Amino acid sequence: MMTDALHPRHASRPSRVLPIALPIGLLVTVLGSLWALSETPAAIEAVLPPAPAIVAQLPGIALEGSVAADPCAEPMVIEALGAGDSETAIAGFGGGTAFRDAVVSENAPCISLSDPEHPWVVVNKARPLDPVDHVPGALAGVSVPTTTSSNSMREDTAAALDAMGAALRDAGAGALGVNNGYRSYDLQMRNYRGYVNSSGQAGADASSARPGHSEHQTGLAVDVVSCSGGCGGIEGFGGTQEAIWIAENAWRYGFIVRYEDGETAVTGYIPEPWHLRYIGPALAAAYHEGGYHSLEDFFGLPAAPDYDH
Ligand code: DAL
Ligand code: ZN
Repeated sequence: MMTDALHPRHASRPSRVLPIALPIGLLVTVLGSLWALSETPAAIEAVLPPAPAIVAQLPGIALEGSVAADPCAEPMVIEALGAGDSETAIAGFGGGTAFRDAVVSENAPCISLSDPEHPWVVVNKARPLDPVDHVPGALAGVSVPTTTSSNSMREDTAAALDAMGAALRDAGAGALGVNNGYRSYDLQMRNYRGYVNSSGQAGADASSARPGHSEHQTGLAVDVVSCSGGCGGIEGFGGTQEAIWIAENAWRYGFIVRYEDGETAVTGYIPEPWHLRYIGPALAAAYHEGGYHSLEDFFGLPAAPDYDH
């Protein structure tokens, strides 16, 4: 028998339903209005503990700010990691700062900073991608202008980049564009060789990662440009109104400026105000609030100024 949800059967019997429905409806409306007016009635508030205390009593639920003692045993973390949901896993730790603290204090055996599937991966001269020819999953394009054909990036990174580009424009800080997003191992090899040819090996190593060592290969890195009155190149980005806005606000969208001025001894690269790295909103907020200037310092990793060989 078909059930017509749009025409409930009792609608054909108004004489028996209405006399009951009207007073109940009235009661619900009056009670609802009283509740809405008082937000949390004082009498009820007095007998209930505050909400976080209630949640903390429920096993397996961790709120932002409620730090999990053994985060990798939290069902929320286990489920989120199984589903590849990085942000929910971080929330299960108790938020970005709790996640960072757990990793640094070695209380996070379920988290690998070498796993290129997650936005907490750290790639530098001492930490090649694993595997070295890693290819990220689904890639996406962006809505902002692009200046090269290598302009795709991971879907989470692309969505955040577009949101950030729109916010930058709405703030009156010019127009953001994308130069390079994802670069494959092979493309990185061609790039790096080009730098070696033009600047020599030491010059190349100061500004271009060797293949297998570039964040661009994760799909989580993006080089941005100013597109005020036509798009410029990456080298012209520093000092533009877009660069100033990005340095102040990129964290709100999950990005950090990865190679900052004064950090060459840690990162191994000369400053690149255009090279943004997506680490997700929770970690970027913790990075910003903690006043960090390199991912190495954030995660308590050794400086990586040089390659081993
Ligand atoms: N320019 C950065 C370091 C890269 O090549 O990944
Ligand atoms: Zn870059």
